[in-house]
Amino acid sequence: MSNQTFTMIKPDATKAGHIGAILEKINGAGFRIKAMKMTKLSAEKAGQFYEVHKERPFYGELCAFMSSGHIVAAILEKDNAVADFRTLIGSTNPADAADGTIRKLFATSLGENAIHGSDSDENAMIEGNFFFSALEQF
Ligand code: RTP
Ligand code: MG
Repeated sequence: MSNQTFTMIKPDATKAGHIGAILEKINGAGFRIKAMKMTKLSAEKAGQFYEVHKERPFYGELCAFMSSGHIVAAILEKDNAVADFRTLIGSTNPADAADGTIRKLFATSLGENAIHGSDSDENAMIEGNFFFSALEQF
């Protein structure tokens, strides 16, 4: 069990003005921010990030959406970070997400679901290093 995960606040949530409220939920749940930046992905970069999904029918739509506006990328630290963060964000489809979760509160649809969370310790490291150099991680 490692203590690090990676997140992105997705373009639907940044456009809707939810960055502050989402960061408050993240801090309130005991995560420490180890690195953070607001940026915009090109379609190509979004495609690289979600490469594991490239055979899935929603891949094109996902890359177009993820490059449609600003995102906030962050590396987060906490005991049991990956699993605890997935609990905090809730199910992929906001219609199935538990009350009080970030997706229940801020997501609008399965495709536009407000926030990303790494699904394993290995991917947390890969994804964090995709956005941040060693000098940017504190
Ligand atoms: P994420 O990677 O963004 O944290 O989401 P997740 O693990 O909960 O879900 P995943 O299966 O990894 O899917 C990645 C993102 O693709 C979009 N999606 N669209 N239209 C669809 O059927 C569909 N399924 C997934 C979602 O935005 C999901 O977060
Ligand atoms: Mg995923």
